[in-house]
Amino acid sequence: MKERIERIINSANEESVNISDLKSLEEFRIKYLGKKAELSSLLKDLGSLTPEEKPSAGKLLNEAKNLIQNKIDALRKRFENSEKDDFIKRELIDLTLPGTKFSSGHFHLLTTTMDNICEIFVRLGFEVKTGPELETDFYNFEALNIPSDHPAREDFDSFYTESGNLLRTHTSPVQIRSMLSEPPPIAMVCPGKCYRRDAIDATHYPMFHQVEGLMVDENISLGDLKGILESFCRHMFGSHINIRFRPSFFPFTEPSAEIDISCVFCGGKGCNVCKNTGWVEILGAGMVDPEVFKAVNYDSERWTGFAFGMGVERVAMLKFDINDIRLFFDNELDFLEQF
Ligand code: PHE
Repeated sequence: MKERIERIINSANEESVNISDLKSLEEFRIKYLGKKAELSSLLKDLGSLTPEEKPSAGKLLNEAKNLIQNKIDALRKRFENSEKDDFIKRELIDLTLPGTKFSSGHFHLLTTTMDNICEIFVRLGFEVKTGPELETDFYNFEALNIPSDHPAREDFDSFYTESGNLLRTHTSPVQIRSMLSEPPPIAMVCPGKCYRRDAIDATHYPMFHQVEGLMVDENISLGDLKGILESFCRHMFGSHINIRFRPSFFPFTEPSAEIDISCVFCGGKGCNVCKNTGWVEILGAGMVDPEVFKAVNYDSERWTGFAFGMGVERVAMLKFDINDIRLFFDNELDFLEQF
């Protein structure tokens, strides 16, 4: 009996080395301690032993049983712990890891620039007004002192519908609409899309954006225009910016001027953006022509005003050092996502 028990213990010891998980451990337990195990049948055989043999054999059997049971318990603990570790590894949330990034869209640079321009004028007391992109000849040209035979129509070549309407070439028609619907004083800006039949190149596109402005009141002078535009340019491009007026011509303003700002890239020293002049053109402006007031039934003896207009693309190109207008419309995310 003693020998059989020792053999069982030896083979259990040998086999236990190969137990690798809870499943093989259970097989091991059934083999050595289960009902059909050799130890169990030996236990049953105890009854047939003599009273002298019984106690020592019983003791040996018990010791063997405990030995194997202890081994099983220790292994079970080890496997259960490592399963728990695996579970923790699988399920644990590491709060220090960067989170999942959800990509979200944002406004197009032109929208933000147009909003920024309007915001500055709103702070200066201007209202924001919008109007239709499909206009009549009257609002886009006639009321703005550009009769059908006027050479300035050349510069505003547009897209016409069969009924004779056109895609507006500037947002000035919104100013006409405002003046026809309310008496002075007026201080407004009109942002929006405009269209011209321009061939596409680095600075021209058949669709572009403008913000134009109009202020009409008693005693509005060129000084007011200068003050407002200087204030705008400094808010937009920085407080160190200087502006200059160059005489120009527009049918709807008299006198008219082209307004330059000191070059934002070289600070006025001269570079390839400003073509070594130190200045870059930013907007057109002037005092509202009395002919325009006549078209909207304003008394030009009593009211004076100024108007100005700028291209949003041009402002954004100068502000963000963009050298090709096509970049705004190509839908290249690599470009758009930078802003
Ligand atoms: N309407 C002009 C344009 O589109 C801009 C402008 C507006 C110039 C008001 C002077 C005064 O070119």
